[in-house]
Amino acid sequence: MQRVSQRAEPLPDIVSEARTVALFGGAYSNWLAVRAVVADARRRGVDEIWFLGDVGGFGPHPDRSIEALRELGVRSIQGNYDDSVGHSKEDCACGYTDPRDNHFAQLSYDYTLANTSTEGRAWLAAMPTAARIRVGEHTVHLCHGSPRRVNEFLWQSTTPAGFVGRLCDDWEAHTIACTHTGIHWARRLPDGRGVVNVGAVGRPANDGRREVWYALMRATDGRLVEEFVPVAYDWEQLARQMAAEGLPPEFVQTITTGWWTTCLEILPARERMSGQF
Ligand SMILES: [Fe+2]
Repeated sequence: MQRVSQRAEPLPDIVSEARTVALFGGAYSNWLAVRAVVADARRRGVDEIWFLGDVGGFGPHPDRSIEALRELGVRSIQGNYDDSVGHSKEDCACGYTDPRDNHFAQLSYDYTLANTSTEGRAWLAAMPTAARIRVGEHTVHLCHGSPRRVNEFLWQSTTPAGFVGRLCDDWEAHTIACTHTGIHWARRLPDGRGVVNVGAVGRPANDGRREVWYALMRATDGRLVEEFVPVAYDWEQLARQMAAEGLPPEFVQTITTGWWTTCLEILPARERMSGQF
């Protein structure tokens, strides 16, 4: 029996070719981390830098992250947050199901929407929803949550090899790069294809470290190889700004400790067990 593809939309054109790319997602208004990550990637001499969506949420002064991405010339695709803020929707469409997650997500969203300029919202609304690039000889499909849904959570523990293969088949990609969950991981099949969740730079990866993470991907010996890179930034300044803006102390605590205190009911059991709360 022939399997039906999960893909309904036509694939976007391939827009660039590179040997090394830096991929990052989930800025969550952490404009200091955005600037630190782009500087780190440039120091390493990558050919291209891509942002996989969710400019706002959680942190202070959302326009500063939009300004950073635009000023630094980072190629960007749209996350669920960008679609919501860009079109002044009622909530972030983050995909949470627990009331506590939704409570904090709404506080964050209302602040972000109220503090994003008209020009910033127009820029968010106009972002493309996916992109395809060549890295070495391989096609990489860039998306936010998953190629099939902007707010799908692709966690390591819930994305088995069979599912990785189906996504790569249906989206005709060697590698699918995504974000949205905030925790980085990669799963490669024996043939080299795979899914790489590049993590988020807006808040720590629930690992007790204050650094944030992005992914480097490079073509080498006919393969694609990714490396996750921790980046230090001025988290004390960010924490001060968050407090001054009246953002919840729980959000600030995550920045100062490296442990998630909110929006963690969505975590699958295995990912939840590796955090503190
Ligand atoms: Fe997202």
